[in-house]
Amino acid sequence: MIFDTHAHYDDEAFDADRDVLLESMESNGIGTIVNVCASIDGLEKTIALMEKYPFVYGAIGVHPDDADQMTQETLDKIRTLLQHEKAVAVGEIGLDYYWHKEKEEHLIQQNMFRAQMEIAREEKLPFMIHSREAAEDTLNIVREYMKGGMYGGIIHCFSYSKEIAREYLNMGLSLGIGGVVTFQNARKLREVVEYAPMEQIVLETDSPYLAPVPFRGKRNSSRNLPYVVNRIAELKGITPEEVIEITEKNARKLLNL
Ligand code: NI
Repeated sequence: MIFDTHAHYDDEAFDADRDVLLESMESNGIGTIVNVCASIDGLEKTIALMEKYPFVYGAIGVHPDDADQMTQETLDKIRTLLQHEKAVAVGEIGLDYYWHKEKEEHLIQQNMFRAQMEIAREEKLPFMIHSREAAEDTLNIVREYMKGGMYGGIIHCFSYSKEIAREYLNMGLSLGIGGVVTFQNARKLREVVEYAPMEQIVLETDSPYLAPVPFRGKRNSSRNLPYVVNRIAELKGITPEEVIEITEKNARKLLNL
């Protein structure tokens, strides 16, 4: 069944129908979902979803958008919550220079990114990275940590060139592919998908964001993943069933499930 490695069901976009929607996943072919914590607020909400739904696992971490609000206490809390038996990764962590242009903000983001990479290493867990308009700095930090030994990771919503993809793939990391692959203007990403070995691709939605065509711009959910699966199948010349099977296997291996 389909494995969604990256969704945000704690988001307020799901407040009206979260339970009904999540209860409909299994009958729509969605077998497993990782709810990825993005904000400081989302930490407890992610744990609540993991405890309520047997098929929901959690990634615990804080997004670069909230880096300036993080303290030592936040890092301690992340470490504590990662002890939960259904916590499978540290994320989403990384750098976002698209929404944050100031040099000072970049330095804060880098510090919190490093601090959370340290936690992933200590806890022997894979990481999930968000990187936007920060290709070089992200790559340098990931490279540095990979040299010291890490436990795998996913570059979520990969948005860079084939050349940068090659760097991550050579380090043994995986690329999270979602709705963007169906967008008409996503030629660069389709090249990356054609190039990447099937064993290093995992499915993701980033729900409620990035709904695939024909729902682009609307609220996304894991139930839309068949559109992503079909596009990957076309690009790789394999069947949708094979895409589902291989990406599920990849996700289970990476996240130790
Ligand atoms: Ni996300």
